[in-house]
Order: sequence, then C-alpha cells, then structure tokens
Amino acid sequence: MKTVILGIESSCDDTGAAVIRDGVLLSNLIANQEVHREFGGVVPELASRAHQQNIIPVAKQAINQSGITVNDLSAVAFTRGPGLMGSLLVGSSFAKGLALALNIPLIAVNHLQGHILALFIRDQKKRSAQVITGSPPFPFLCLLVSGGHTQIVVVRDYLEMEIIGQTIDDAAGEAFDKCGKVIGLTYPAGPAVDQLAQKGNPDAFTFSKPRLKDLNYSFSGLKTSFLYFIRDRIHEDPYFIEKRREDLCASLQHTIIEILLNKLRLAVIQTGIRNIALAGGVSANSGLQSALRQEARKQGWNIYIPESAYTTDNAAMIAITGYYKYLKGAFSGQDVAPEARGWEEK
Ligand code: KG4
Ligand code: ZN
Repeated sequence: MKTVILGIESSCDDTGAAVIRDGVLLSNLIANQEVHREFGGVVPELASRAHQQNIIPVAKQAINQSGITVNDLSAVAFTRGPGLMGSLLVGSSFAKGLALALNIPLIAVNHLQGHILALFIRDQKKRSAQVITGSPPFPFLCLLVSGGHTQIVVVRDYLEMEIIGQTIDDAAGEAFDKCGKVIGLTYPAGPAVDQLAQKGNPDAFTFSKPRLKDLNYSFSGLKTSFLYFIRDRIHEDPYFIEKRREDLCASLQHTIIEILLNKLRLAVIQTGIRNIALAGGVSANSGLQSALRQEARKQGWNIYIPESAYTTDNAAMIAITGYYKYLKGAFSGQDVAPEARGWEEK
C-alpha cells in the first residue's frame, strides 16, 4: 500500500497544495497573492480572502497534476501554525472537510518543521531536492531563515528538533524587507537586495550589529541603524539612495550574513555538530550561500542547501512533514485548531 499525502499550506500569503507518494513529490502548486505588493507587506484580511478563492482550485490542480485521484489519498496534512490566523483557518478548514469526507486521517503540521523537512523532499526526476550531496545526515544544525522566523535548530531526527537560538525581535527576512523598503524596493525586498548587492561593495558602509551573548538573534537594531543612516545621508544629498543603492544593498546583506554566521559558528562550537543545513526563504540568498560555502571550507563543515523552489513557503514541505508524521501515526482529531504563534508538540 502506498502512502499518499496531500499537503496544504496557507500560513501567510501563498496558497499551496502538493501531493507526495512514499516521500516522492508528484505535484507542488502555489498561488501567490500579488494583492499585497502595493501595500508593502501582507494585509491579513486580504490574505485570508485570497486563500478562500484559491484553495479549491489549487488543491484540485495539485491532485490532477499528480496523476492520483482523491480516493488514493492516505491522509491530508495542513499547516496548523505559526502564521496569520485568518489564513490558517482557511487551510485547516479545507483540510478538515476533505479528511472528514474521505474518512482519512488529518495531520497538523508545524510550518517551521515543514521548512526544515523540505531538505528531505525527493522529486521524481532527481534523487533529492538538494544542491549539495543529498539530504543531511542526523544530527544536523539547521539555520532556518524566513520572513517570519530566524532560528538555529538541532535536528536529531525527522520529528525530533530542538530550537537552541532564535530572534528576539525581527526575522532576517524582515530585515531584508524593511530595509529594502526604506531604499524604495518593492515587497518582499530580499530578492532585489540580493540582485543589487552583487554589483555593490559590501564594505562601503557599516551598520550596527547586536551584542547578544547567547545563540539568540536580533535584527531590530540593524533596521533602526539603517533607517537613521539613510535619513542623515539624504539630508546631505537628496539623491544619496539612487547614487549608492548597490553599495547599500551589498553592505546591508553583508551585515545580515555576518550576524547569521557569527551565531552559527557559536552553535557549532557548543553542540559539536558539523553538518549544517539552510532552510526558509532567505536561504535562497546568493551571498548567504557563498559565505556558508566559504565558511564550510574553512571550518570543515558539511553543508546542505535546499533548492530555492522548496525554501520559500510551499506545500511540498507540509506534505513531506505529513508523510513522516503519517509513518508515526501522529494524527489530529477534527477538533484541532490553528495556532497563530505555533505550538509545542507533546
Ligand atoms: O520562508 P518564506 O517564504 O516565508 C516565511 O515563512 O516567512 O520567506 C520569505 C522571506 C522574505 O522576507 C523574502 O524577502 C526572503 O524570504 N527572501 C530573500 C531572498 N529570497 C527570498 N531574502 C534575501 N535574499 C533572497 N534571495
Ligand atoms: Zn515560511
């Protein structure tokens, strides 16, 4: 009997559905919500409405493209949290309805666990989703960097994870997005900062770095320092941003990468774990990837970088987590409710 999981992702502004059979990805669809661009960030009310419009067509298409029928499904997995409540409610209600109608198990997935288990997605064409030497061996350290989260996680097994460091304020992706907005880039600014940074000087400007002693991160000070710096320079020269946009992006990106890698080095020293993986939307950053490669060569780390299709929010990561939870019989009842701030599994 094959295990076929439909994964549903609706935590923020992307509506996703994916089908995974015995750990192999058959289809992975995402409907992006362009509506938020003009507002410079996600508008929760608009996000939940768009999920309502998208969820059934996206799920139908994912099933059609996978070549299975709904009756082949073993379980429905959905993002329970963390995320926007109105968005989570759409995906969870859809998943509950479908699981009830088909009389199959319902599996609640933690979105962050999903980002990490994206490292284990195998697709039909390739052996694995990774660009470097396949999926990471256990235990490994995962630097999870997304628009909403920045964490260092010790991953001991598929479903055995421990957060040993995390941001106390903004996430790394937010630092890219908010600073990018200050210099006129559209939301989400991370990819544009990445592009522009490639033509700029990373040492042109210096911005403040946090001085936290533990493994926790902080990015709000950088955001403020960047904002004040720009304000003062514009005062002297109204065309400062236009003239120095590439250098600003390169220096900002360089600072964010330094902050991320400093704590990662510390985490390696503290845990003794030298297998390092990236996860989350910011792991697509070319500067972060090359800095990690360089550091790995220097320190003798083994590194694992997922393909960018599986780093930003997607449903394949929810389906693969659902698959591993299915193998353990970790099902949820119909009374399961979304958790906007995430939850601890018992
Ligand atoms: O994982 P994700 O899709 O969403 C969350 O779960 O939050 O991550 C989105 C974040 C955004 O902040 C976006 O600007 C950032 O990932 N991002 C990047 C790049 N591509 C996406 N940041 C820097 N460089 C990139 N190439
Ligand atoms: Zn995410």
